[in-house]
Amino acid sequence: STVLSSSRGALIVLEGCDHSGKTTQCKKLVSALNEASIKAEFYRFPGKYIYINDLDSYHRGTRTTAIGEMISGYLGRQQDIEDHAVHLLFSANRWELKPKMLRSLEDGTNLIVDRYAYSGVAFTAAKEGFDIDWCKQPDIGLPQPDAVFYLHLNPEVAAKRATFGGERYEQTDFQSRVSKNFDNLQDSHWTIVDADKTVEELHEDLLERVKDVINNIGNKPIGKLWT
Ligand code: TMP
Ligand code: MG
Repeated sequence: STVLSSSRGALIVLEGCDHSGKTTQCKKLVSALNEASIKAEFYRFPGKYIYINDLDSYHRGTRTTAIGEMISGYLGRQQDIEDHAVHLLFSANRWELKPKMLRSLEDGTNLIVDRYAYSGVAFTAAKEGFDIDWCKQPDIGLPQPDAVFYLHLNPEVAAKRATFGGERYEQTDFQSRVSKNFDNLQDSHWTIVDADKTVEELHEDLLERVKDVINNIGNKPIGKLWT
């Protein structure tokens, strides 16, 4: 007998340099998909999953898993954590959400994710004494994104948008090493998207691409990252 199964959800990641508009675009994508009656949830890393209808508390909220709290203290400079150890915490924050992510995907819910393991590698590998291969190890085997959209801004444009705050990593020389590391992580799942346009223009561009991924996902198995 034939069993007709509806398609699984797509795992879609937005990456990109700081001030490229990732968070804004992720939220707008989830809203637009939900308005079109397409199931979608917003995730961010570091963090825990947050539904779009919880946007208000998202704005005020902290990163609220136990591991997310430690990372938040680290980024805000309330707490120092050894570089290798914090790398493993960022990765652990993804692994702790993996079961929930897989349940949603299998249930047909699309996930729109603000940063993923690529940020994990690109940021730690920008530190003295770290190489990309070492940095990739703890994230090997996480759910493989079906598409990664890399929001590209040239550094001068990004710098104009920037109000680099006191948060860790927000310095231009560090950011330029991060962006070189992102270049090394590109694979067949990546699309580079020009982010030097208005919020609405970029949204329309991304929405079309995201719908395309969702419409073609069918029930192809969820892959494992970097295997
Ligand atoms: P964001 O809240 O602006 O996305 O900032 C999170 C910061 O954490 C940003 O500087 C990138 C950094 N980061 C890592 O170093 N490792 C990771 O695995 C992730 C997801 C983010
Ligand atoms: Mg930011």
